[in-house]
Amino acid sequence: MNAAQVAAEWARVFTLGKARGKIAELFEGDRSRAQRMSRRACGMLYDFSKTALTEESFAALIDLAEAADVTAARDAMFAGEKINTTEGRAVLHTALRAGPDAVIEVDGVDVMPEVRATLARMADFAREVRAGEFTDVVNIGIGGSDLGPAMASLALAPYSDGPRLHFVSNIDGAHIHDVLKGLNAATTLVLVASKTFTTIETMTNAETARRWMAKSVAEPAAHFVAISSAEDKAAAFGIPAGRVFGFEDWVGGRYSVWGPIGLSLMLAIGPEDFAMFLAGAAEMDAHFAQAPLTDNLPVIHALVGLWHHQVCGYKTRAVLPYDQRLSRLPAYLQQLEMESNGKRVSKTGEALSFGSGPIVWGEPGTNGQHAFYQLLHQGTQIVPAEFLVAMQGHEAELAHHHALLVANCFAQSQALMLGRDHDQPQRVFEGNRPSVTMAYEKLTPLMLGRIIALYEHRVFVEGAILGINSFDQFGVELGKALAMALQPLLEGAEAEIDSSTAQLVAFYRESLT
Ligand code: F6P
Repeated sequence: MNAAQVAAEWARVFTLGKARGKIAELFEGDRSRAQRMSRRACGMLYDFSKTALTEESFAALIDLAEAADVTAARDAMFAGEKINTTEGRAVLHTALRAGPDAVIEVDGVDVMPEVRATLARMADFAREVRAGEFTDVVNIGIGGSDLGPAMASLALAPYSDGPRLHFVSNIDGAHIHDVLKGLNAATTLVLVASKTFTTIETMTNAETARRWMAKSVAEPAAHFVAISSAEDKAAAFGIPAGRVFGFEDWVGGRYSVWGPIGLSLMLAIGPEDFAMFLAGAAEMDAHFAQAPLTDNLPVIHALVGLWHHQVCGYKTRAVLPYDQRLSRLPAYLQQLEMESNGKRVSKTGEALSFGSGPIVWGEPGTNGQHAFYQLLHQGTQIVPAEFLVAMQGHEAELAHHHALLVANCFAQSQALMLGRDHDQPQRVFEGNRPSVTMAYEKLTPLMLGRIIALYEHRVFVEGAILGINSFDQFGVELGKALAMALQPLLEGAEAEIDSSTAQLVAFYRESLT
């Protein structure tokens, strides 16, 4: 990467950003804009025409991506180079979904035989469980060890024909209490999912589940499975090696749904549909690796993101799936995007000269329309929106619902862009509010795999252009350490701490007496 050239390309993009016109006006007299500013790939129509990007500013962003050597960074990731430099690790979630002939080396060793062997073990185990007596599966994990399978199992509910899934993540005892309350221990399987097998929430919940199980089951260990990179720690917890599904440190927590962390999903939908989920992601990987930058969905998605946040200065990004079953997608993307790119220094430790990742949030449509869309349409902040919508639902008998859902989705992007004049100021919609729409036929396992991989690679491209290491997460450490230090104070220990926190501790202690 040539830093001076990157800076020059940024400067050009910023100049074009300042001079940007009204989105609706870009359509005037230009009947082909929608087609030119859209791409069709991987089963998706990706329409970014309702943004203020022009041919010129889009070309400038592509030049920026080229100057930042995105393609070299991408190739290094796929090749297993240690691009997570702060932790000295490769970044190879893509290996978990690579085809049967792939050869990917880390430190000169092909990792694929192990990946394939683990996937085969997962599939054997899933077939056994799906044919057996377990009626319920509880996945205990948090962050990347929860959000991926929780999001995907809801998204793929129509494909679910295995045991019922439940997810426990929060340290709040209410969570595990409410989940276990309705379950029969004798027919429940517990998956303890933790890359490190040290996360306090997961280990505390796992202990509670073990005690619950031991009360009614003669052989509690037979009801537990561990999913972890720390197989020794799983063994120390008492889970036999045959029930441990391991993975390597080159799978980041928030990128881990494709491997053993996805076991709960595989138990629900079966190994064949899980394979389709992987195939969808692999298709997006191949597209990302091969398509020219100007037609490359993850690259375009990233450039639109950078244009809105860094160039136009819009602080947040709304993810608005018009798909009830994608209701956990915004939460999933919050971890994927904000834990990856919410950084203040570059890979080499220098303060960033502009903002890093935006705040990501959202809710499914049409529910959001009756809650926060008021602000999207008439608030003083502009929030770029990302609409996701399937052209078909799974419920053929409810096709009329689906047509209304789709009409609402399309109408919202139109309203955001066009606005409306009115004599009464309160009824004026300024319009000129950008959005992209990702439309696809149906939310199948294949399509979900494509969508999630699209977002993963978007994060990668944004990080590469910003010069961030998207694969560490040191920002989560301080709060964890302070919580461990504070716990003894809640139990009466003394220590010199700031007066606000001391007051909170005192209030807690008073409330117990
Ligand atoms: O605290 C953040 C984090 O480290 C995430 O990156 C990770 O997904 C989550 O905690 C859970 O970690 P583990 O899988 O090791 O329990």
